[in-house]
Amino acid sequence: MRSFTNSIPFFIFWFFTSQTFFTTTSADTLTGTQTLRTNQTLLSSNQTYVLGFFTGSNSNLYLGIWYRNTTPERTIVWVANRDNPLNNSSGFLKFGDSGNIVLVNSSENTIWSSNQTSAKNPVLQLLDSGNLVIIEANSDPTKYLWQSFDHPSDTLLPGMKVGQNLDTGIEMHLTSWKITGKDPSTGDYFTKLDYHGLPEMFIMNNNRTVFRTGPWNGEGYSGMPEMHADTDSIEFSFIADADEVYYSYTIGNNSLMSRLILTSDGQLQRFTMVEGTEVWSKFWYVPRDQCDDYKECGPNGICDNNASPVCKCVRGFSPKNQQAWDLRDGSDGCVRNTDLDCGNDKFWKVQYVKLPQTGTAFLNRSMTLLECEALCQRNCSCTAYANADIRNGGSGCVMWISELIDMRQYSEGIGGQDLYVRLAASDVGGSGKTNNIAEIVGITVSAIVVLFGLLGIYLIRRKRKLQSISNANTEQIGSFHRNKDLIMNETVFSSNMDDLELPMFDFDTLTMATNNFSEANKIGEGGFGSVYKGMLVAGQEIAVKRLSKTSLQGVEEFKNEVKLIIKLQHRNLVRMLGCCIEKDEKLLVYEYMENRSLDSFLFNKDKRHLLDWKRRFDIIRGIAKGLLYLHYDSRFRIIHRDLKASNILLDKEMNPKISDFGMARMFHTDQTEANTLRVVGTYGYMAPEYAMDGNFSVKSDVFSFGVLVLEIISGKKNRGFYYTNHDMNLLGNVWKQWREGTILELIDSSIGDSYSTSEGLRCIRIGLLCVQERAEDRPTMSSVVMMLNSETTSMAEPKSPGFSIGKNHVETDSSSSKQDETWSVNQVTVTLLDAR
Ligand SMILES: *[C@@H]1O[C@H](CO)[C@@H](O)[C@H](O)[C@H]1NC(C)=O
Ligand SMILES: *[C@@H]1O[C@H](CO)[C@@H](O)[C@H](O)[C@H]1NC(C)=O
Ligand SMILES: *[C@@H]1O[C@H](CO)[C@@H](O)[C@H](O)[C@H]1NC(C)=O
Ligand SMILES: *[C@@H]1O[C@H](CO)[C@@H](O)[C@H](O)[C@H]1NC(C)=O
Ligand SMILES: *[C@@H]1O[C@H](CO)[C@@H](O)[C@H](O)[C@H]1NC(C)=O
Ligand SMILES: *[C@@H]1O[C@H](CO)[C@@H](O)[C@H](O)[C@H]1NC(C)=O
Ligand SMILES: *[C@@H]1O[C@H](CO)[C@@H](O)[C@H](O)[C@H]1NC(C)=O
Ligand SMILES: *[C@@H]1O[C@H](CO)[C@@H](O)[C@H](O)[C@H]1NC(C)=O
Ligand SMILES: *[C@@H]1O[C@H](CO)[C@@H](O)[C@H](O)[C@H]1NC(C)=O
Ligand SMILES: *[C@@H]1O[C@H](CO)[C@@H](O)[C@H](O)[C@H]1NC(C)=O
Repeated sequence: MRSFTNSIPFFIFWFFTSQTFFTTTSADTLTGTQTLRTNQTLLSSNQTYVLGFFTGSNSNLYLGIWYRNTTPERTIVWVANRDNPLNNSSGFLKFGDSGNIVLVNSSENTIWSSNQTSAKNPVLQLLDSGNLVIIEANSDPTKYLWQSFDHPSDTLLPGMKVGQNLDTGIEMHLTSWKITGKDPSTGDYFTKLDYHGLPEMFIMNNNRTVFRTGPWNGEGYSGMPEMHADTDSIEFSFIADADEVYYSYTIGNNSLMSRLILTSDGQLQRFTMVEGTEVWSKFWYVPRDQCDDYKECGPNGICDNNASPVCKCVRGFSPKNQQAWDLRDGSDGCVRNTDLDCGNDKFWKVQYVKLPQTGTAFLNRSMTLLECEALCQRNCSCTAYANADIRNGGSGCVMWISELIDMRQYSEGIGGQDLYVRLAASDVGGSGKTNNIAEIVGITVSAIVVLFGLLGIYLIRRKRKLQSISNANTEQIGSFHRNKDLIMNETVFSSNMDDLELPMFDFDTLTMATNNFSEANKIGEGGFGSVYKGMLVAGQEIAVKRLSKTSLQGVEEFKNEVKLIIKLQHRNLVRMLGCCIEKDEKLLVYEYMENRSLDSFLFNKDKRHLLDWKRRFDIIRGIAKGLLYLHYDSRFRIIHRDLKASNILLDKEMNPKISDFGMARMFHTDQTEANTLRVVGTYGYMAPEYAMDGNFSVKSDVFSFGVLVLEIISGKKNRGFYYTNHDMNLLGNVWKQWREGTILELIDSSIGDSYSTSEGLRCIRIGLLCVQERAEDRPTMSSVVMMLNSETTSMAEPKSPGFSIGKNHVETDSSSSKQDETWSVNQVTVTLLDAR
């Protein structure tokens, strides 16, 4: 009985759906004898994309795909009949006889068609990805017999490829519109992938190259540092294997949209849009400056946009045409000062450089840099060599046997990589490429040379790997580290890089360097121990952190932690040089930062004026990048948990570097559950959920970052959120001023009016977004970096900051089982806030 009543509705349902299927157009598909008329559209099932007809500025009619939801104008991402528009609005789309789709005009003459397919009952479907596909009815829906993604217009959507299928020879490239956004007919520019040598991409204007991306070096294109732009939401892939070579990207966040477009004036531009805002913001673009112009400085010339004139010759080379060069025409490039002498030649390392054009270069992805050097040395036509992949300390060999074309100089930390140029020995002078080994193991040259050569401290010899080099093995971090949840599923220890064992210092050396850990040398103190300035015999300055002895961690575990932390290298992180374990003591050795910590400037009335607006903005951006690296880009996720002004150190050039990262790990307070009994952190910087419940996440770091941003802008300390009177508290004040529209008063008067109002407002808004009470409302660091870098990103309206909890609340919430927590909060707070 029951089953009978159940089956009736089912039957009716089935009946109606099949009826619907045959009589009307379902939202995202076209089948059988159905047609799509100029007043009709297909809508992808989640309503992101529309297929339909649109009118170009030339009042011609085109079949295309656009986002349903963009303003003020449609953003068209694909055009079918771009060079053969319908001249009057009476055409339609239908299936042809050979399983293809055909666009016809009113007298049913074919205007455009897809290629024929083998489909007997073809179905045309607009997918949620924006891909228009033909599939066979009732068969594998992922088997596309034809797809619009194989025929890009000027736009690369997530999941689309540009490149070449080496089997079929099919090439996919972007071609600009005649006038972007107006006239979709084929324009002058297109992209071209050169898959010879180490593959790279070009922007062409007809037959002329206007821009070269530089080869893919594992992290991005060697000449497009803006491309990785520090976001984890956009993931790039570059595949180069025997079957195909292509570039593609995906978006990791559903509320983010992004597209890459080749404009009618030859720029490659990336736009992003946060869901709900309906406004595209330009995320980056190339070419953007003189040095992006192809071959700006000719053969063997390097373009440096920070120099004037921008062109220089590689060491050992001089301008070929001095007169033209002096008139700032570098196009003739440079020639050698001294002829090569094959076996006696040396190599000169050029750092942070966009690699020269690789079309004719030799490539072997499994060779090490040393093997590469040896090969180049032996082959007299070799002019330079470099690693093909710069990840994990570098791997692979690319070797040039031609002139070096279209190089560009970046600054440290911005982009580029090392290139070793062959020179006559007499042109190399002093050091040459003596640093190679150090480079291979990925450790600061200066640190190693000083440590290794002069100090008698032993740098434990490099372990020989037993596995063969070609056996490209990888080892999951998780296999030797139990704390798997904190580890991103990345692999470490690339095959062709020997594991570096830990640089160990001996205790006596450090005692001597710090003048017996004298008070005079003490430069800081925190929950994890005290910090001393030291000087090694060779004159190198170091900072030594003597850890307090409360850690319960065993020596091996500690070493493993240090080994992991030491590999975290980023221009906005203080570099760890090694450690010392002796006599019950654990010490960490860091590079020394000349300008000490940010708080010593920010909160000091005599020094705060040294931080003008530009400097503060750079500091904010630097911290954001460092934190982003810890959260997402490093090999395993690190939550800092004690981010604050005194943990931001400043180097000679006032570049900010985050210190004390990984300390929570080292003290083993990072347990796999994201909740801990031992709360480390500092009043005023702690997110409410962390201070109250010990819940930590990347979002609690984001909160601390937000506080820091507001402090940097206002020059005022946030005293903590435990005050019942919020007026006493920075966040309370900021929030009040924000709502009252007097927010610009917040900006530190010692900045004067050197600041840009729009940047100031942007930073304040970002700060407020970061300190929102609910962790889920706060942006991720990648969004933060995006917002900081983009001139036009639209941002959400911040909600109330996370201060609205009184102290009593905290106390009632801390149950007796959290006694220890209360204690350590206090302990850490007091010592840290009062230090310095
Ligand atoms: C669409 O256009 C056709 C003629 O081309 C017309 O018959 C039909 O009514 C139109 N539909 C709508 C919804 O306007
Ligand atoms: C539309 O008109 C243009 C000239 O204005 C012509 O070149 C083109 O062939 C026409 N297209 C069709 C489909 O008739
Ligand atoms: C549009 O089609 C009509 C015939 O239906 C034709 O007479 C007219 O020339 C066409 N318009 C254009 C601009 O081609
Ligand atoms: C349809 O296209 C054909 C070929 O381009 C052309 O000769 C014919 O005039 C067009 N018909 C209309 C109604 O525009
Ligand atoms: C049809 O196939 C050829 C080569 O197979 C290709 O060049 C062309 O772009 C294809 N056209 C369409 C519309 O798919
Ligand atoms: C590019 O095309 C122009 C005109 O079509 C021609 O004169 C020139 O020689 C071409 N240049 C190259 C490098 O092929
Ligand atoms: C995706 O981005 C939005 C807006 O930037 C952000 O609110 C959201 O938390 C992000 N989601 C994830 C999973 O990162
Ligand atoms: C629609 O689907 C695409 C692809 O799966 C996804 O990227 C996008 O976020 C979805 N959009 C919405 C509004 O759900
Ligand atoms: C690449 O180099 C490795 C190591 O020297 C060698 O074993 C391999 O045969 C080389 N591969 C090619 C294709 O030359
Ligand atoms: C040098 O290397 C190039 C590229 O692999 C090769 O074509 C050339 O034959 C080599 N020359 C010598 C002398 O080995």
